[in-house]
Amino acid sequence: RSAAAANMPLLGKRVVVTAGGTREPLDPVRYLGNRSSGKQGVALARAAAAAGAEVELVAAHMDVAPPEGVKTTRVETALQLRSAAIDAAERADVVIMAAAVADFRPAETAETKIKKRDDAADPVITLVRNPDILQELVRLRSDSGQGPALIVGFAAETGDSRGDVLEYARQKLRRKGCDLLVLNQVGRDLVFGQDSTTVSILRQAGGEPRTFSGTKDEAAGMIITAVADELA
Ligand code: CTP
Ligand code: CA
Repeated sequence: RSAAAANMPLLGKRVVVTAGGTREPLDPVRYLGNRSSGKQGVALARAAAAAGAEVELVAAHMDVAPPEGVKTTRVETALQLRSAAIDAAERADVVIMAAAVADFRPAETAETKIKKRDDAADPVITLVRNPDILQELVRLRSDSGQGPALIVGFAAETGDSRGDVLEYARQKLRRKGCDLLVLNQVGRDLVFGQDSTTVSILRQAGGEPRTFSGTKDEAAGMIITAVADELA
């Protein structure tokens, strides 16, 4: 390999990164959201660009700005993220699903602001499932026989009395069918909004996971290296 190829292992590759947390509207002024800061996704987009890739960021709500010089599509809801991700995936070699996609959305969005009323019961919010975008990308690829060479999922897991985090991640990797799964270990005040993180990378192809701790930028570098290795 030439020096340039060694430093830029993703040269000529098109990489789509989804990042941030979706917001599901309840009415014109309120939404259901989550604590995703978008930092990990932005770090991944930056690391992929530094590795030579042409990067497209599909960004839901983020506390941080998208990286300079990276094509960015802003979205709000899971359904919007789904359309943007499926569209971008058509011209991508790699899709990295780092976004925190809401599993559920309100069944109905009020057209006007929900008001307190003394003559009626307090509202009850009914939720419906959002589509699983990662699973859908994998299914579209196998149905059409074309699409991104590599689809990468994320899992934020907390261990509990019924299982350890790696076992949950293995189950998720099997269920999702993606090529790589990046496990983030989360606790009540770990990871979300923080600058450091512990990640493990699991391969659909099997083998021992790679685990490391560091800043989100260092983790992004390791993940991009694993992506390049998997493509090679
Ligand atoms: N994901 C997705 N579409 C959804 C939910 C999740 O594409 N509707 C993606 C995330 O971007 C992530 C991966 O699936 O890459 C795993 O998300 P996670 O929330 O950990 O998995 P779920 O299948 O939603 O399982 P859980 O019940 O543990 O939340
Ligand atoms: Ca989920």
